[in-house]
Amino acid sequence: METRSEEEGSRVELIDASEIEYVSYGGEHHLPLVMHLVDQELSEPYSIFTYRYFVYLWPHLSFLAFHKGKCVGTVVCKMGEHRNTFRGYIAMLVVIKPYRGRGIATELVTRSIKVMMESGCEEVTLEAEVTNKGALALYGRLGFIRAKRLFRYYLNGVDAFRLKLLLPRPELHPSLPMMADRDEPHTHDDHIPPEESSELYRGL
Ligand SMILES: CC(C)(COP(=O)(O)OP(=O)(O)OC[C@H]1O[C@@H](n2cnc3c(N)ncnc32)[C@H](O)[C@@H]1OP(=O)(O)O)[C@@H](O)C(=O)NCCC(=O)NCCS
Repeated sequence: METRSEEEGSRVELIDASEIEYVSYGGEHHLPLVMHLVDQELSEPYSIFTYRYFVYLWPHLSFLAFHKGKCVGTVVCKMGEHRNTFRGYIAMLVVIKPYRGRGIATELVTRSIKVMMESGCEEVTLEAEVTNKGALALYGRLGFIRAKRLFRYYLNGVDAFRLKLLLPRPELHPSLPMMADRDEPHTHDDHIPPEESSELYRGL
């Protein structure tokens, strides 16, 4: 599918969806690209240690999208044990403005969730600002439900929704690494099944 994109500075460019290349995090040379995108677009500031924590321990859960060699989007995730479940967590998701609305974020997130599912995750969670209509619509379309509202969760004082997607029980793939994740605060989320008809279930 070809669509028109308004580049910053009003340059208009034709973008062919088939020209977008998706790659798994491939090492230190990808780190500045991920950091640049996230620092530019997310309100929450992250230190280099936070980025390294995610991409060193779970490189196979982070993906980058490229268009003609330019990094235009990224997703950063982790997974691990949480209470009695094994769960995935989406930490950062960004697509730069001229490339939005073309399904790039959906593709990035779907790739991460697929690996989580193959690795035995029973659920996927994340937080999004209650004001972030785009992200809430995207995740809602994928079948995520709003499990909890977190008061003034972000440094900017905005509340967050904790979003949750329950995954169907997968075949366990023992070849894929599972990193124990014991540092998340305990929560009391409700377990509400996602819509069976979500885009994600159809896609996997
Ligand atoms: C949120 C974000 C990642 C979406 O990226 P994207 O590549 O444009 O998303 P997609 O094209 O895959 O969108 C898929 C669906 O999500 C919904 N959606 C995405 N952005 C939307 C917006 N701004 N308003 C309403 N719905 C939106 C739509 O349902 C869309 O499907 P449609 O285009 O068929 O209507 C991007 O806007 C972004 O980087 N924002 C800044 C960073 C951010 O907020 N990250 C999320 C933190 S939780």
